Amino acid sequence: MAANWKMNGNLASIRPLLADILAGVQTGMNAEVVICPPYIYIDEIALRLDNTTIGLGAQNVSHHDSGAHTGEVAIGMLQDYNTGYVIIGHSERRMLYGETDGIVAEKFKKVVDSGLKPILCVGETLEQREADETEEVIARQLDTVIDNAGVKSFAKAVIAYEPVWAIGTGRTATPDQAQEVHAFIRLRLARHDEEIADLLRIVYGGSVKADNANELFTMADIDGGLIGGASLIAEDFLSICQAAI
Ligand code: PGA
Repeated sequence: MAANWKMNGNLASIRPLLADILAGVQTGMNAEVVICPPYIYIDEIALRLDNTTIGLGAQNVSHHDSGAHTGEVAIGMLQDYNTGYVIIGHSERRMLYGETDGIVAEKFKKVVDSGLKPILCVGETLEQREADETEEVIARQLDTVIDNAGVKSFAKAVIAYEPVWAIGTGRTATPDQAQEVHAFIRLRLARHDEEIADLLRIVYGGSVKADNANELFTMADIDGGLIGGASLIAEDFLSICQAAI
């Protein structure tokens, strides 16, 4: 269960939020929990997560190692803070910051090569879904990464299915809609390597809330969640985590 805080909060708000999440998780949690704060708070959060069961994730990373890339953060910098996971190819990065499938694939490879775990986001827009292009879009997004990084690199990866039309909209995919795409993703990987496909964790993201988490997480191919808005409220995020089986 990964909390994607996006560009929300400030020190005054994230300190109590994290303290409440930590207190909840420490009372016992089956799910692996990861917090992905804005970059600037990674140092602060890393210190507070030290010696806890909660992992740290970044929301993005540069596909370059270092140099003249104003405003970017390199993978080596994330390694300095014990970052375990990096979200790659979130639809907001693809749509608002021009990340192509090729750039996403380069980032994915960089994360895997440096021993961190990518959370690779894939998903279709409403237009694409209505034009019956969902599988085509997801296949293209996945295949570019498989071609660039190799199917074996998925042994260390998580895939997040995030239909763009469900992100931050309050409109969640139904459990059946999500399951259908999750199964498609697993099958796509299985064409290259069945064992990796079987073990792969495929999480769902897009308006997951305390009241819909349970039915989503009971689906066969939904292995967890990437939670945006609801992860900014400790109580909501904790009950979503509790819903994970
Ligand atoms: P949401 O965001 O839960 O606010 O819809 C999910 C995400 O974008 O990762």
